[in-house]
Amino acid sequence: MPLARTTHATAASRSFRAFRSCATRALESERALYLSRAGVGIVLDLTEGRMPAVAYWGSDLGDLTRDELDLILDAATVAPNQNALDIPPRTGLLPQDADGWLGEPGLLGGRDNGSGFAPRLGLVAHTLRQNAPDGSGEKDVLSLTLEDAALGLEVVLALELLNSGLVRMRGTLTNRGEGNYRLQSFTMALPVPSEANEILDFAGRWTREREPQRLPVRVGQHLRENRRGRTGADSAFLMHVGERGFTYSSGEVWALHTGFSGQHRHVVERTSAGETILAGGEGLFAGEVVLAHGESYESPDVYASHGVGLDEVAQRFHAWLRSRENHVDTNRPVTLNVWEAVYFDHDLDRLKDLADRAAELGVERYVLDDGWFGDRRDDYAGLGDWVVSTDMWPNGLTPLIEHVKGHGMQFGLWFEPEMVNEDSAVAREHPEWIMGTTMQRLPEQSRHQQVLNLAIPEAYAHVRDQMVQVLEANDIDYIKWDHNRDLIEAGFRETGQPATHAQTLATYRLLDELKERFPGLEIESCSSGGARVDLGVLERTDRVWVSDCIDPLERQMMNRWTNQLIPLELMGSHVASGASHTTGRLHSIGYRAATALFGHFGIEWDLRLATDEEMAELREWVQLYKDERDLLFTGDRVRVDLGDDSIALHGVVARDASRALFAFTALSRSDANQTGRLYFPGLDDDARYRLEVLVPGAKPSGYVPSPVMSSASGVLAPTPGNAREYERLNAEFKARGVTDQVLSGRTWASVGITTPILNPENTVLLRLTRVN
Ligand code: DGJ
Repeated sequence: MPLARTTHATAASRSFRAFRSCATRALESERALYLSRAGVGIVLDLTEGRMPAVAYWGSDLGDLTRDELDLILDAATVAPNQNALDIPPRTGLLPQDADGWLGEPGLLGGRDNGSGFAPRLGLVAHTLRQNAPDGSGEKDVLSLTLEDAALGLEVVLALELLNSGLVRMRGTLTNRGEGNYRLQSFTMALPVPSEANEILDFAGRWTREREPQRLPVRVGQHLRENRRGRTGADSAFLMHVGERGFTYSSGEVWALHTGFSGQHRHVVERTSAGETILAGGEGLFAGEVVLAHGESYESPDVYASHGVGLDEVAQRFHAWLRSRENHVDTNRPVTLNVWEAVYFDHDLDRLKDLADRAAELGVERYVLDDGWFGDRRDDYAGLGDWVVSTDMWPNGLTPLIEHVKGHGMQFGLWFEPEMVNEDSAVAREHPEWIMGTTMQRLPEQSRHQQVLNLAIPEAYAHVRDQMVQVLEANDIDYIKWDHNRDLIEAGFRETGQPATHAQTLATYRLLDELKERFPGLEIESCSSGGARVDLGVLERTDRVWVSDCIDPLERQMMNRWTNQLIPLELMGSHVASGASHTTGRLHSIGYRAATALFGHFGIEWDLRLATDEEMAELREWVQLYKDERDLLFTGDRVRVDLGDDSIALHGVVARDASRALFAFTALSRSDANQTGRLYFPGLDDDARYRLEVLVPGAKPSGYVPSPVMSSASGVLAPTPGNAREYERLNAEFKARGVTDQVLSGRTWASVGITTPILNPENTVLLRLTRVN
């Protein structure tokens, strides 16, 4: 069935802003619980002795009575089919065959002799803490204790409804029986209705992270299992299922994210009876988690978001992340990263000169990348020896740090704590600390490096102590934490046991320990570009590096999809050299900067090669970012469905709808770029807004303003660089009696404007400001 047409205006009126004011409810009956927040409602079947199951998860159901709540359980119960179990099938939070779920069970494992393989877990107790405050505001916390006393298994599930309407689940499995329990998988599930027929998840690789893929839901599993020991450039990232053809603003969508930086799973499974689940959890190797009597396993957090359209799904993640106490403020400093400027050529004068040029542009943070330590003069040696190189830095890092700080900039330093070159002091002294399956051989290298096993306490302490020493001896505000290879054959070399689970947890411990020891220290999660982007690492870091590909054409898509989970302020987004280092494409400053603007803005370019005009232009963009970052990092994200992939329009609308900033981009040449329409959803329907074109620096190539704008010849908003031009044009328009472009929010969203004409790979910015 085709989707009901959602106009841009109706999409706007469904804006997430409206949901923020929705009532928070909790209602319990004998066997059911209803929770609702921020426009999301969830009904759970909590029948004693059975596996808890979700009877409904979707838009808020408003006020209900207890009788109605019980009726919802019945309304959602599937009739037992012929030749099936004599009880209605039940798709629980940990689906199990004992309940008639004959897809993959949520809990897989067994005892040494094979018993305990098919648990029948049932609810024995539950507690609800409503409006429980934590570091991210209020949430509802439901704790469910499940038992299979006969098989000696206990599970405690926590299901939380977070303030933005996100659902978060985690579980603890405890072995209460005799003998070991060998855990194979612990995958928590939420059911989605059968009209959720289309999947959107992500693939990708180095320099092409988070590439979207769409496919129909079929009987069977769509399983995205990560076996890289890190989140991965090709992580499913956020698994969506929705009504066929769902867009940014239309169609019901349900999405799930496993917040874990090691091996993980994202699953959509449909049985031949039509039951469909969305599930997630950790990926484990055989023998990786063996629980002795009384021991427990804790799952990672699994997040789930419901919305009408992809924007609402994303906004729920953004709103929740932004509400955390430890979330960054909106003053995200303009950053200069020296990697693509100097690579391993750490010449103090050159680096100081770069700092001078950066300061001239208004840069606020300077990051020294790979190459400052041990014998690390290229990527063949020295990795893992976190001691400042006396060859390259005879006087230590202080001369550079003082120079940078003299300009009032923060200083950041690169580390790759989980990695070693075989040619390093640490690898030579402790070959047993390298991950592997036996002392007889090592895994194949990747980027000439191996992985250090932080699950070995001595290895962990060694890395931590070296890092602490550098951080104590130098005035460092920021760490870029890199991780440049997949993990293969990743075990304890001396015993041959698998270790990716323990390695991921050890990395989290190290991040936590450093954060605690150095209050205020910011950490960036980088992994060969964007291969460690997940909510597990973001609990303890402050930004992610989206990709090593800084080519703005590629970044238009990678940033857009990374933003499906991560708000703009946490996404590192730089202006690099005019000739992209990873694609060779050439781009104007305007296009590079307009792309980087929607993110945590930075520069990664050898500024010695920039002309005076380029420096002047870039300075304007830096100023524009500083002027707009408050809006960018608090507003609601809007991506507009234009029905043509050759053009793109996206923007940010202030929470109070007082203003908005949109970017229109021509990605390639097409008719839509001549005759298409741009709509501006998310504004207040009845308020009036002035539309202005922003042109910092040079005009985009091929730019012809849309006719509504050309009545004022593309009214330029004032920026430091075009103030004179702005004055002149304004005086001219006044003399000609030209009026402002002021229309209602409803009109901008419904009528919009015809597209300005642009040559491919150019962007024009449009600002809407409410007028009184
Ligand atoms: C990969 C990162 O993504 C780059 O930005 C850079 O830090 C290099 N590693 C350094 O080795």
